[in-house]
Amino acid sequence: MPGIAVFGAGSIGCYLGGRLAAAGSRVVLIGRPYQAAVLAEQGLTLSDYEGYRSRLDPDRLMFSTDPGAAAAADLVLITVKSGATDSAARALEFFLKKNAVVISFQNGMHNLALLQQRLREQTVLAGMVPFNVMQPAPGHFHQGSEGDLYVERSPLLTPFLPDFEAAGLPLTLVDDIVPVQWAKLLLNLNNSINALSGLPLKTELSRQPYRRVLAAAQREALALLRQRGQRLARLTPVPTPWIPSLLELPDAVFRLLASRMLAIDPMARSSMQDDLDAGRKTEIDWLQGEILRLARDQQAAAPVNARLLELVHAAEQGGRRDWSGEDLLTEVLRTR
Ligand SMILES: NC(=O)c1ccc[n+]([C@@H]2O[C@H](COP(=O)([O-])OP(=O)(O)OC[C@H]3O[C@@H](n4cnc5c(N)ncnc54)[C@H](OP(=O)(O)O)[C@@H]3O)[C@@H](O)[C@H]2O)c1
Repeated sequence: MPGIAVFGAGSIGCYLGGRLAAAGSRVVLIGRPYQAAVLAEQGLTLSDYEGYRSRLDPDRLMFSTDPGAAAAADLVLITVKSGATDSAARALEFFLKKNAVVISFQNGMHNLALLQQRLREQTVLAGMVPFNVMQPAPGHFHQGSEGDLYVERSPLLTPFLPDFEAAGLPLTLVDDIVPVQWAKLLLNLNNSINALSGLPLKTELSRQPYRRVLAAAQREALALLRQRGQRLARLTPVPTPWIPSLLELPDAVFRLLASRMLAIDPMARSSMQDDLDAGRKTEIDWLQGEILRLARDQQAAAPVNARLLELVHAAEQGGRRDWSGEDLLTEVLRTR
């Protein structure tokens, strides 16, 4: 049986690694001492919005705080936040097997290149996690929304496909992952809005003023991507470029037409809110920051995304995190 290592045992790492282990795969989770202590005490509980639930007792878990624990792995999943990618690659470069396959299951557009720069003897592939994972309690990881995992197609993935199938996490393989990554990034522009609202995702997305902020941020990004000739994958029932028009609809119509977008656990929040709660640096520079880089490359402006980025940086320093939709909309539109 191929060995799987998960580097970055947080929400996504513990959920993906835990589900693979629960289905019988040989998995080692690599993460921080605090997570090791929690899992050694509580074990790992996994659940999803459709009623899946499983539990791994501590003696069924392999957890290490040492990157060297990935040395025997045939497949390595990278699940650290984007700001930690370079240090993850540095930590792993001297340990990994030469023919190991590495999948980045991270958001953002630059993780793949960063990993490939250091992990030159391995095959590094980009993946995408479409769903939200939250931690309702220490040691409990809950998938709060739908979607299958995406990974760029490679024949080297073949030995691992049965592991993901058995875990109930089948991989959708695509020839070109970049349109998938950009389409996901457009959806992730909501992470900042959610974090600034302080509300659960479902409550926030049920309110038109917040959706109008998201629509404005997406329209800016879509214009820049169109200018660049970038193709976008369709990850939602409607094509990606139509999403802003859907978001701008009045609440009752939105609820009717976009019920799939609201098929989120009532308590699910963006992980950016968790980062702010924990006093950690957020991933904003790899989400809204990507749109600002696009704008800079095209000598254009992206004021809505720029303001959201500033507000999240301010929130990281203790600034406001209880923005009403109306206030946030006024604030971001003022800058245009
Ligand atoms: N959470 C979601 O719902 C979700 C959904 C889709 C995609 N994603 C993407 O998935 C990626 C991971 O997100 P996440 O929410 O799972 O993040 P997370 O909960 O912060 O998990 C990452 C974990 O990796 C640990 N870590 C970082 N560097 C490490 C190192 N050198 N050695 C050992 N452990 C290390 C972190 O510890 P410290 O915090 O102590 O550094 C943290 O425990 C991000 O790119 C995110 O955008 C997340």
